[in-house]
Amino acid sequence: MPQFATYPSLKDRVVFISGGATGIGETLVEHFCAQGSRVAFVDIKVAEGQALADRIAAAGAPKPLFIDCDLKDIPALQAAIRRVGAELGPVGALVNNAANDQRHRLEDVTVELWDDRMAVNLRHYFFAAQAVAEQMKANGGGSIVNIGSFSWKRGEGEMPGYVTAKAAIHGLTRTLARDLGIHRIRVNTMIPGWVMTQRQVDLWVDAEGEAKIARNQCLKDKVLPADVARMVLFLAADDSRMCCSQEYLVEGGWV
Ligand SMILES: NC(=O)c1ccc[n+]([C@@H]2O[C@H](COP(=O)([O-])OP(=O)(O)OC[C@H]3O[C@@H](n4cnc5c(N)ncnc54)[C@H](O)[C@@H]3O)[C@@H](O)[C@H]2O)c1
Repeated sequence: MPQFATYPSLKDRVVFISGGATGIGETLVEHFCAQGSRVAFVDIKVAEGQALADRIAAAGAPKPLFIDCDLKDIPALQAAIRRVGAELGPVGALVNNAANDQRHRLEDVTVELWDDRMAVNLRHYFFAAQAVAEQMKANGGGSIVNIGSFSWKRGEGEMPGYVTAKAAIHGLTRTLARDLGIHRIRVNTMIPGWVMTQRQVDLWVDAEGEAKIARNQCLKDKVLPADVARMVLFLAADDSRMCCSQEYLVEGGWV
């Protein structure tokens, strides 16, 4: 049976997670709560977010703070981060996770759709980092984990807005790392492979998808949200104290 780490430095650390109500974000919330972190998360899926917070509290862990927030609304995001700082203490780790990989054909992209894809997949990453940086500076440091995607490395089609935004995330990581490293704020990109969230399974993991995984991954087990979460825990913990400006993949050796 595999055994997994507990990180002393994550106990009581204030962690802010975007898109935490479902998918990989939900698993991130569960994993940080299991480490004893003081977790806040935002999402537009209100029923799911509240249910997750209630479920964690019912299991005996401190209840994470769920805030209903549309990340396209930057003032609302900034207010959420201020609220977390005031209620839970300065944010020590930020996980920029929320995104939307809805397919869109190149021919159908309008200026409005393009801007919308950037707003949901990229813009809030920067403004969340900008907002937590003030709290992290005052606290002597912190860790920002930007969840990217290997879609752009593989040159995937049928969602140019999403793929472009995901490629930009690593550039964002590098420039933020340069500006914030001086304050002991580490910034890294974490790239999941094809992760078996309920949404992916329902929409895309058909027989062809299964064959693709078997063909491309060196490791034949499916990549699960928990596999991603464990890398994010490491990047948020003091154990990764000299890891900065890099990208870390959890993709089962997809080559
Ligand atoms: N699942 C995969 O196979 C995979 C692969 C590569 C990268 N990723 C990346 O991992 C991260 C999580 O992916 P996922 O598969 O869990 O996605 P998902 O679509 O299942 O979940 C995303 C979460 O973000 C929330 N969200 C979306 N738009 C929002 C908005 N405007 N305001 C607030 N919340 C919003 C959603 O409600 C949802 O809870 C994303 O950054 C994605 O690009 C996932």
